Amino acid sequence: MTTIESEVRDGAKLDYSAGFGNEHHSEAVPGALPVGRNSPQRAPLGLYAEQHSATAFTEPRAHNRRSWVYRIRPSAAHPEFRPFRDGNLRSAPVDDGVADPNRLRWSAPPLPDVPVDFVDGLFTVGATGNVLQRSGIGIHWYLATKSMTDRYFADADGELLLVPQLGGLLLHTEYGRLRVRPGEIAVIGRGVRFRVDLLDGGARGYVCENYGQAFTLPELGPIGANGLAGPRDFLYPVAAFEDRDATVQVVQKFGGRLWAADYDHSPLDVVAWHGSHAAYKYDTARFAVMGTVSFDHPDPSIHTVLTSPTDTPGQANADFVIFAPRWLVGEDTFRPPWYHRNVMSEFMGLVTGVYDAKAEGFEPGGASLHNMWSAHGPDAETFEKASAQELVPQKIDDTLAFMFETRWPVVTTALAREAPFRQRNYDSVWSGLRRRMTC
Ligand SMILES: [Fe+2]
Repeated sequence: MTTIESEVRDGAKLDYSAGFGNEHHSEAVPGALPVGRNSPQRAPLGLYAEQHSATAFTEPRAHNRRSWVYRIRPSAAHPEFRPFRDGNLRSAPVDDGVADPNRLRWSAPPLPDVPVDFVDGLFTVGATGNVLQRSGIGIHWYLATKSMTDRYFADADGELLLVPQLGGLLLHTEYGRLRVRPGEIAVIGRGVRFRVDLLDGGARGYVCENYGQAFTLPELGPIGANGLAGPRDFLYPVAAFEDRDATVQVVQKFGGRLWAADYDHSPLDVVAWHGSHAAYKYDTARFAVMGTVSFDHPDPSIHTVLTSPTDTPGQANADFVIFAPRWLVGEDTFRPPWYHRNVMSEFMGLVTGVYDAKAEGFEPGGASLHNMWSAHGPDAETFEKASAQELVPQKIDDTLAFMFETRWPVVTTALAREAPFRQRNYDSVWSGLRRRMTC
């Protein structure tokens, strides 16, 4: 039984089908979804049946993701794709990339002062792995000032995890609509076609393009059966379709490049679907944060929302980790994140508020990259303050920072290294840390 959760916001109601990885089923027109079989001789309403696989047919059930869609025209009905401009979008391996051991930080990139949609507004910070071998990630900002009207996008190279920071988005996907606002995240499955409407005029956010295994929920180990992100809080769209005969442009990212074709109809013509591969959203306010109730604090992996595993247990292709509002109660504990060097590479962004390890400079919309084993931790001001503070229970409130973490070093693009909004004095954050040994 599919659980429907309704959301009324901005004067409009959207329904969602709840449950991470469920076998969802939905029909926008009653009777459009065949019962008891996937590919009947004649599908209901004269629709075409089509399978959309995100995993190999033979992958184990626990990993297998696929959906059956029932659409007005089969996806095969399209003209030739031709190479399209890449703009500021790059893929791994990055042609002009540098695997930089330095700590890097960027202020929030400004929104363009001309109309730019989600696709043209993608800006790649870095990437790692190999897009042709389904390994690694791409890290991007999106900077959009206009909605996509006659354009659609699909990414064959990876699924897209969107972290809105400024402005709401209405995502029209093949599987239905998702409305996401800062504080929420969305994941658009590999190969899913979509277009992006801006709800507030301008939009900025972060993208983890996951070339590897699809994101899934992390194991909970001794935490038990509950905690962190709950499966029922992941919301999938219900079927909604565009029956539209018009010349539109479909852009797809394939093999690290953009390609485009002019269709004579909207590709969002799925009237009914069932399966486990689609798109979904999650509200980070529903994350049950775990932490110490005695001393020290756990490794930041305790804050993992989603993980893209690799064949090596525990070494993620990508982890999506959030630092959400929470209580700090540790006694005899240095409460901010400790100083560390990490085999994993950490890209951090800030949706809102102030991050508890950096008193200034790490601003909403900005980002930092601490590549593998680059030494980092609190700035001098934060260290002094945390070393002297009275350890009463403390609420960290009104903040949301996050991390894309990967087992591979992130190779930064020339675009990101040379960007005017890169903070070239980032090392000075730690220059005020003085010798403190007293004996
Ligand atoms: Fe770190």
